[in-house]
Amino acid sequence: MAKTWMMSQEMLRQSTSVNDLNCQMERENKMNPWLNIPAEDYESHMSLPDVAQAQALNSLMASALKAYRPDSFAVMVCTTGNGFEHINPSHTRRAIGVDINTAYLTALKKRFAGRLPCLELVEADVASANFQVGPVSMVFAGLIFEYVEVADALSSIYRSMVPGGILLSVLQLPSPDASPVTDTRFESLAMLAPIMNLVAPSEFSGICISAGLKLINSDTMPLKKGKAFFVAIYQKPVSDTQDGNLPLVRMPYSSTSEITIVRKPVAKTCKLCRKGVGKQWI
Ligand SMILES: C[S@@+](CC[C@H](N)C(=O)[O-])C[C@H]1O[C@@H](n2cnc3c(N)ncnc32)[C@H](O)[C@@H]1O
Repeated sequence: MAKTWMMSQEMLRQSTSVNDLNCQMERENKMNPWLNIPAEDYESHMSLPDVAQAQALNSLMASALKAYRPDSFAVMVCTTGNGFEHINPSHTRRAIGVDINTAYLTALKKRFAGRLPCLELVEADVASANFQVGPVSMVFAGLIFEYVEVADALSSIYRSMVPGGILLSVLQLPSPDASPVTDTRFESLAMLAPIMNLVAPSEFSGICISAGLKLINSDTMPLKKGKAFFVAIYQKPVSDTQDGNLPLVRMPYSSTSEITIVRKPVAKTCKLCRKGVGKQWI
């Protein structure tokens, strides 16, 4: 179900008191530090010479697009659009960016809406039940599984792939020489440390295979400070027998580069104030 932000806010107003709403928003912000990391901090941190993960992800996306020339392509999760300059709208007729942070999507829209008329931007939690975008022939999922339930995000990704579609996943591997979030002058990034969980490639591949994906190829890409990415390519079977088991919810998505906000209501009790907060849009 797609909702505009205005509608979500209106429904929140109807179902909660102002105090509950404040409490709930505070809790939501506390829950996901990604909502509090400025785009400039993230971009600057990721492209520092000692980190250089932005450059690595950028070149992986360039290679994937060159190798597969997908006619439809989704980036889960897209942040501010690193690598989108490699999308060629003459053969990629749909390009989708999904992220939980509206400010990142707004920056992406500003940069790329002009040169990518096929751009669709979706603000959503990729690990939420029944989430999907209109299925695409290729999904790029770089550095998301460290922050979500892997099986839940993979279900969303699986639903978002056409039969025969390709998933390129990037996991960060542990380093003996550095903490998972490199310590830099961008202090806001330190908020990620408590929620970041490195995922073992064997565990990840096991979940992919039980989700119905077939491993095509995998490799390790060395980074700075003894870090490395585990890069793997999976394919959804052409004859897909699993769709019968997975709930398929087709999202209306924008035909232009409007940001579609996908939130779903669930009954919630606020852990901070212990009061029921009615329906919360998550
Ligand atoms: C490490 S960055 C991804 C790197 C990105 N692919 C790049 O090339 O720069 C993690 C991204 O995941 C987003 N994110 C975190 N949790 C999310 C969730 N549950 N659903 C959707 N996006 C999420 C954050 O807002 C952030 O943009």
